[in-house]
Parts: sequence; structure tokens; C-alpha cells
Amino acid sequence: MEKLLINGGTPLKGEVTISGAKNAVIGIIPATLLVEGKCIIENVPAIDDVTVIMDILTQLGASVKLINKSTVEIDCTNVNSCRATYDMVKKMRASYYLMGALLGRFNKAIVSMPGGCNFGSRPVDQHLKGFRQMGVEVKECVNDYYDLSADQLVGAQIYFDIVSVGATINVMLAAVLADGITIIENPAKEPHIVDVANFLNSMGANIKGAGTDIIKIKGVEKLHGGTYSVIPDYVEAGTYMLMAAATNGEVMVNNIIPKHMESVTSKIREVGGTVVEYDDAIFVKGAKKLTPARVKTLPYPGFPTDLQPLATTLLSISSGTSFVTEAVWDSRFQYVAELNRFGSKITVNGDTATIEGVEKLHAAKAKCTDLRGGAAMVMAALMADGTSEIYNLSHVDRGYERFEEKLKNLGAKIKRVQDFSNEIEEAN
Ligand code: EPU
Repeated sequence: MEKLLINGGTPLKGEVTISGAKNAVIGIIPATLLVEGKCIIENVPAIDDVTVIMDILTQLGASVKLINKSTVEIDCTNVNSCRATYDMVKKMRASYYLMGALLGRFNKAIVSMPGGCNFGSRPVDQHLKGFRQMGVEVKECVNDYYDLSADQLVGAQIYFDIVSVGATINVMLAAVLADGITIIENPAKEPHIVDVANFLNSMGANIKGAGTDIIKIKGVEKLHGGTYSVIPDYVEAGTYMLMAAATNGEVMVNNIIPKHMESVTSKIREVGGTVVEYDDAIFVKGAKKLTPARVKTLPYPGFPTDLQPLATTLLSISSGTSFVTEAVWDSRFQYVAELNRFGSKITVNGDTATIEGVEKLHAAKAKCTDLRGGAAMVMAALMADGTSEIYNLSHVDRGYERFEEKLKNLGAKIKRVQDFSNEIEEAN
């Protein structure tokens, strides 16, 4: 077991460079199953979720090579299995993309579901609804296995009842090699949807409208290999922007697409921070005192649910009462009990957290409950005077590349140590 020691209370200052987007790359890597030939994927973040999905592809028979620290070469020519077992998928909840990718490749997929996530159940009814409309027979087997098969996948007009990132990408994956045209109505519009579509198009697919209200996919004979670079991670960028604002820091966040950040930029300005946009960077400056605000998470371009725990943490030191409503996931406030260890005054009622702003957070021992809840613990420790200890780091390792190193470069006093004593060490 490892823990982070963070000696907080110092404003973050300097520059940080954002890595490739986790939620794009874990759709793009399974998408290589549809390609005949080699795919060179650049700007791949070194995070545990990427290691897991690359391992799964290797176990299916793909050749997966790391060319340098952020470039991967994948050749799925020799993949001959359409079965992903529980042991393969259990470490990654988004392994449901194997359904669409294997169906597209083999007209057959037997995929185990990794189960619910730390903030509620993870239904796939919209994914299955889309597959069924494309002619897929869906058998739900014991232990959460889905056995999906079709003689030939056929294009269909699919209306999603719920805006779902996963279902949108999964149906795109199933549709690129299907017979005919697939139209997705009410799709998700997140930047990673557009990125997966751009990847597939660059390999020969015909997808139009990704990022808009209607996606049209014309099935093609085959996809060919090529080189593609993953977009920057807007959730990672938002994490550093909110941390800069919360520590009254001054941080230049480089290698981002400022348009992706609009909901975050406007919220930081609303609470009193300064945000300056450049072509591919954003500068954030905090304020001595932050004003309270209301935040409601929504599908893109609304305020991202993945930044909700960080927004709540920021507002914990505002000068009044704030409200944060989670409208994407049923329950995503597990981290609040841990956050309150730092002296924040937050109560949760249903889908809304009420935050009574306090003057200052104090150091605490706390654990990560999930990936973004974990980032919120790190943020609280950076805001708090004294040395905090953060446990259960496997959550943040899933999604943040070189987290401590990037924070250290911004002046944070942070270090990772083995957790075999209860003593609090100085993190200088
Ligand atoms: N939903 C259904 N039925 C479905 C699919 C989804 O009811 O068939 C519901 C979900 O229960 C949820 C809502 O629809 O309430 C949105 O779920 P969505 O399918 O959009 O989420 P996801 O694809 O499983 C991705 C990200 C999450 C992010 C959400 C929302 C990946 C791998 N994960 O999940 O990211 O919170 O979209 O933007 O792309 C994270 O990075 O920390 C993370 C959890």
C-alpha cells in the first residue's frame, strides 16, 4: 500500500502540460480491433486504465507495442477471439467498449461486465437497445455475461432515451463496418466522442456529425491502419484549473483546447478567479476570497460530472453557501464524508450537496473513494495547512498521468511513500 503525503497551504504556481484524454483513448484502443493493419496511437497517457485495456487486447491476440512513453503501436490482425472474460475486464469498468468493437469485427461478442462503479450502478440498457436495433441477438447470461451475436450487423435509426457517452461510442464501433447507414439521435457530444469518430474516420470509416445532435455512420467494407494523436484530456485540464483557483495560485495549463473548458472557465470567473484563454493554453489565477455559487452537472457542453468533486472542494472555502447538484450519476457524493475530514461543512441531500463555506481547510487523513473523488482529496490536502495523508491511490493512478510529478512542478509539497507506519511525515 502507498499513500501520499501532502504539506498544503501553498498556492500552486507555474506551468502544467496536459496529457492525452483518458476517456478518448480507452475508446480508441478497443476501436483498433476493427482495423486491418497497424495503428500508431500518439499522445497516449501513461495511466493504469490504458495498461489494463492494452493487456486485454494482448490477451485477445493483438500485438501491442509501446514505441515510446506516449506512443503505442497496435496490430489486431491476429485477434481470433471474441470473448472477454471477467478476469480480463474486472479492473476496468469501461471494458464495455469491447462489446461494440468485437461485434463490429466478428458479428459476435461474449463480454463479461465488470459490475457497478463506486458511484452507483452502471446500466448498459441503451448500449443493448442500439445493438438490438442493428440486428443483434442479446443473451444475458449468469454472472453478468452478455452473449451478443448477429448474422450481419445492419444499419439502423437509433434514438437514445438517455444521453450516454458509452452507448454512443459503442454503437459507433458496431456501426462502422455494418451493412448500411446507422443514425444515432440524442447522442452524447463530449470531446472524446468526436475524438473516437475522428480516429475511426482517419482509418477509413464514414462518420458524420459526431459532437452534434445527430450522428450518421455509413458502413464501409474495411478500415485500414494509420497514425492518430489523441486529444488533450479536458478533465485533467479542469482538475489543474480548479486546483489553481482553490489554492489562490497562478497556473498556465498548456496543451489544451480552450473551447472544451468553457463551463469550467465561466464557473471559475463566477467565483472570483481570473481566466485568460490562449490558442492552446489557459491561465488561471485564484482570488483571496471566493464567492459562493451553484453548480449543476450536465452532459457536455454542461459542467462535467467528472469535475463535480473538484468544484465542491473549491466551493468549500467560499464566503457563503453553495449548492452542487449531480444530474448525470445517481450518486456521486461518496467522497464528501472523506472531504469533511478536512473541516469542510458539506451535507448531501439526494442529488444536491449544500456547502457552507469555511475560512480554511485543515490537514487530515483521508482516502480516495473513486478516481475524481480521489483528485478532490489531493486538492483538499493542497488547500489545507499542515501535512495530510491520502490513501487508496489506485483510484487516481487509473486516470491521472504523473500526478505527483506535475503537482511538484507547480510547487506542491507532495510525495508518495510506502504505507507501513501510522506516523505523519513531512512532505518537503
Ligand atoms: N446510463 C443508463 N443506461 C445506459 C448507459 C448509461 O441509464 O445504457 C446512465 C448512467 O447510469 C448515468 C448516465 O446514463 O447515469 C450517463 O452515463 P454514460 O453512459 O454517459 O457514462 P459512461 O459512458 O459509463 C463516461 C465516462 C465517465 C463519465 C461519464 C459521463 C468513460 C470511460 N467514462 O462513463 O467518466 O462520468 O461518461 O460523462 O468514458 C471518469 O472519468 O471519472 C468517469 C467516471
